[in-house]
Amino acid sequence: MTSLWHPFADMSAVDGAEVVLVRGEGVFVWDEHGRRYLDGSSSLWYANVGHGRREIGEAVAAQMRALESFHLFGDLANRPALELADRLADLAPEPGSKVFLTSGGGEAIETATKLARLVHGVRGAPERRHLISRTGGYHGTHGIGTSILGLPYKDEFGPLVLETSQVTWDDSGALEAEIERLGAENVAAFVFEPVIGSGGVLPPPAGYLEAVVEICRRHGVLTIADSVIGGFGRLGTWLGVERFGLEPDLIVFAKGVTSGYLPLGGVIAAPSVAEPFWTSPGVSFAHGSTYSGHPTCCAAALANLGLLATDDLVGRALELESGFHRRLAQLCEHELVAEVRGGVGLMAAVALEPEVVARDPEAPRRLWLGAREAGLLTRSLRDGVAVAPPLVVEDEHVELAVQALAAALDLI
Ligand SMILES: Cc1ncc(COP(=O)(O)O)c(C=O)c1O
Repeated sequence: MTSLWHPFADMSAVDGAEVVLVRGEGVFVWDEHGRRYLDGSSSLWYANVGHGRREIGEAVAAQMRALESFHLFGDLANRPALELADRLADLAPEPGSKVFLTSGGGEAIETATKLARLVHGVRGAPERRHLISRTGGYHGTHGIGTSILGLPYKDEFGPLVLETSQVTWDDSGALEAEIERLGAENVAAFVFEPVIGSGGVLPPPAGYLEAVVEICRRHGVLTIADSVIGGFGRLGTWLGVERFGLEPDLIVFAKGVTSGYLPLGGVIAAPSVAEPFWTSPGVSFAHGSTYSGHPTCCAAALANLGLLATDDLVGRALELESGFHRRLAQLCEHELVAEVRGGVGLMAAVALEPEVVARDPEAPRRLWLGAREAGLLTRSLRDGVAVAPPLVVEDEHVELAVQALAAALDLI
């Protein structure tokens, strides 16, 4: 009997049947029985530099010995948080950007969306509160994140945050129509993942992101890019947004910023957003949590960013992207596979034929489980599985992943 309540889990099935992981190195992790698995999902899309990197452990240990933690409220600061903010601001598309740090992606979404509403208030338009997001979008499980979720299960909790709505994920016209329906003077922000991750690995149609950014600018609606998955090399660029030439008002990040070695996320605010908070006495953001800018988490992030840079893992992801996608796409030859989605960065989805899923809704789960039995960890999707390995992946590992998936497909 386990006392541990797992996230997103049917505990009646998990209880007594947990797979307990004990060790990781590079693209592999091992369970307590010594069984090795290829980490085909970078855990939850975050282990970008791979597992077991000594440099991050050592940076964390050194920071723990010096100053394990202290808060950032008011004028208190610590060197790792200051340095991390500078590094991230330097990566931002717009010079002079500012960085707010959080404990993870969900908290960063709350931060960005609250900030968007506040910014309009500060600019004299407090009625701009409505948040628009996309069907298929996933933005964490906090209050606002759940309300802007584009996946079905949010309704289980009843109404949470009012003044939110979703538009079809691939139709810029739908966004403009929704802004006009609501009245632009009531709309605060549009939230989008550059490439939808948990909702199925859905790259945007050509021109879609450029079009929605233009629509938002024209209507005075702030753009919030959720780069929680797409950042730190996953899409072959540092923040995911550069891949599409975007300069969003707010960029939400987490996951790959530390490669998961410690929890950390945050928001990069463009200068136009941050400016009144820096120049107008008395204007402040009454928001933040105990561990915003936790020095040990920031030390992990700095060491991780160092590894991404020295090993050129961002460039490497871009280089590997087409071969990775081409090899996975060969799974389309299997009669049960409808398509292999992706093609931008190191993330893909192997999707089953819709009739297979309609006939047997458990088929995607069996694909995920079968792959695990064959030694490959993936993320389960509604119509298949996602594959997004650490950026240190080699061709031979991609080959292993394809073979494991082919074996699992044969057993469905
Ligand atoms: C796109 C996106 N946004 C936000 C989140 C929430 O991040 P966290 O789980 O760190 O709260 C996730 C988590 O998977 C995500 O994929």
